[in-house]
Amino acid sequence: MTVMIRASDLTKVFGSNTAVDHVSFDVDEGEIFGFLGPNGAGKTTTTRMLTGVILPDAGTATVLGHDIRSDPVLAKQGFGVVPETSNAYTDLTAWQNLMLMGELYGLERTRAMQRSSDLLGMLGLFERKDQKVQAYSKGMKQRLILAMSLLHEPKLLFLDEPTSGLDVQSTQMILALLRDLNRQGTTIFLTTHNMEEANRLCHRVGIIRGGSIVAIDAPEKLKMAIERVHRIEVSFDREVPGDALEGIPGVTGVNRTGDKWQLTADNQYEVIRSLVAFSQQNAASIVTLNTLAPSLDDAFLRLTEVTGP
Ligand SMILES: Nc1ncnc2c1ncn2[C@@H]1O[C@H](COP(=O)(O)OP(=O)(O)O)[C@@H](O)[C@H]1O
Ligand SMILES: [Mg+2]
Repeated sequence: MTVMIRASDLTKVFGSNTAVDHVSFDVDEGEIFGFLGPNGAGKTTTTRMLTGVILPDAGTATVLGHDIRSDPVLAKQGFGVVPETSNAYTDLTAWQNLMLMGELYGLERTRAMQRSSDLLGMLGLFERKDQKVQAYSKGMKQRLILAMSLLHEPKLLFLDEPTSGLDVQSTQMILALLRDLNRQGTTIFLTTHNMEEANRLCHRVGIIRGGSIVAIDAPEKLKMAIERVHRIEVSFDREVPGDALEGIPGVTGVNRTGDKWQLTADNQYEVIRSLVAFSQQNAASIVTLNTLAPSLDDAFLRLTEVTGP
């Protein structure tokens, strides 16, 4: 397994504010790694250190095997960046921006033109390529920035809240392209404050708050870790006594909501097995059975509150 990003105790201090506080994590080749946290958590500062915009005050990182302190330029040739704030020239057309980017990366002209046409097509901008960027909507600008970041076919892509504040169409186009790129092997580091986006897109998510990593895991596992108490909703085809449900091993609470029962449990799988046995013993068929996992928003709140100030 190739490690594409290794952050080791990355730290950045602004005056008396430790914006990023000993942050460590690895991102492996082929992953979409989500860096999730509320505003001011330190996502952009971390991204800027990893992409060589600012230097850490302590700790370091390797990106594509290059140390960000000693070797920042070498790493830059292998990755692309979509920064938090747009960096296209508004008085140039999309096409001119792309050609300029191609020159910066030293791409052969015909290669840059081919690649630009392809990317503009995939991002729904080809028809508008000769318009000045100042006429672009926010979503179109962001799609252009993404195209610019991909011109040199990077193996690793950094995106800082790429869909924040965008229209639905632009968001969908960007997420679809990210999925496609990842399927073709591109490793992606993406910051977001949007739980749903992280859940839909990312293989692993690191949650940051107040400059510190709170948890790193698969989005599903993070959700499970939050609430050790799970809820199971069940209904039967005939009346069953509540106290009989309370007697099921593993059930810690029973509540009635309409024709359904809500059970709380430490181990939902144990309880589900027991419910099947219960229905057989009581000749009551199970009509509905749902596990109610904590929502990502719940998970986010719980995780970030644990070590909150
Ligand atoms: N250039 C800077 N100068 C001073 N403080 C900064 C600077 N950049 C970020 N900060 C502070 O560092 C903290 C983290 O900011 P940031 O990394 O932008 O968070 P996020 O991207 O998660 O919203 C915030 O408290 C922010 O005010
Ligand atoms: Mg930010």
